[in-house]
Amino acid sequence: MVEGDNNKKVPDNKITIAIDGFSSTGKSTIAKQLAKALNYIYVDTGAMYRAVTYFALKQNYIGAEFFKIEKLIENLDQIQITFKFNNNLGFAEVYLNGENIESDIRTLEVSKYVSPVAAISEVRSKLVEQQKLMGKDKGIVMDGRDIGTVVFPDADLKIFMTASAETRAMRRYKELLERGHNLNYNDVLENVTTRDRIDSTRKDSPLMKAEDAIEIDNSDLTIAEQLTTLLKLSKEVIEKATTD
Ligand code: DC
Repeated sequence: MVEGDNNKKVPDNKITIAIDGFSSTGKSTIAKQLAKALNYIYVDTGAMYRAVTYFALKQNYIGAEFFKIEKLIENLDQIQITFKFNNNLGFAEVYLNGENIESDIRTLEVSKYVSPVAAISEVRSKLVEQQKLMGKDKGIVMDGRDIGTVVFPDADLKIFMTASAETRAMRRYKELLERGHNLNYNDVLENVTTRDRIDSTRKDSPLMKAEDAIEIDNSDLTIAEQLTTLLKLSKEVIEKATTD
């Protein structure tokens, strides 16, 4: 649930916006800004899969040579994920059982294990149920891999973001360097392409473009250009929702 953002006044003609796409396409950055501009709630569903992965790592259910899938499934009810709006940052941070884990889930280690965790059906159904509840009143921008296909198949606006693997790896590499992580570009590229493969080929809710999604390749677009495009598309749909 998203708590603490009580100042949000969402108008009556609110819509649901689903943003899907490959890893490191900058979905979260743009989704966050779009939600802010529309005064909508923003939910980063990748953070929820990362939170489960962080839990699995902490409990020693997953590591370089092992993955105790049954243990993780058995203990899923010990995982409580919440979002709390941080006024200073201007977005909601993710909490695991009351502990703020927003920066702990952004490491390369969590990125390395998150795709196999996200491929487990029991994990997906738990998180999807929570995501559907978060969006029941509309006025939401949600980003992930299956938002337009599974979580909100009736979303009013669906966006599918793409960019070349090299562009995405370079963005992620710079972001991690800025956060003080010591790593090399080839490891990040390897992580990006491996995650693409696992996310797109898993049996349950594989990453794919919904038939009615609008595809945006943002390899050569600035964040400001992307925001302008998405705001224009959103306002067209909101206007239509008002006149219908
Ligand atoms: O967006 P991200 O990189 O933080 O997502 C982390 C992983 O979680 C990603 O590799 C795939 C998975 N994921 C998913 O399967 N479904 C979602 N709706 C969001 C993320």
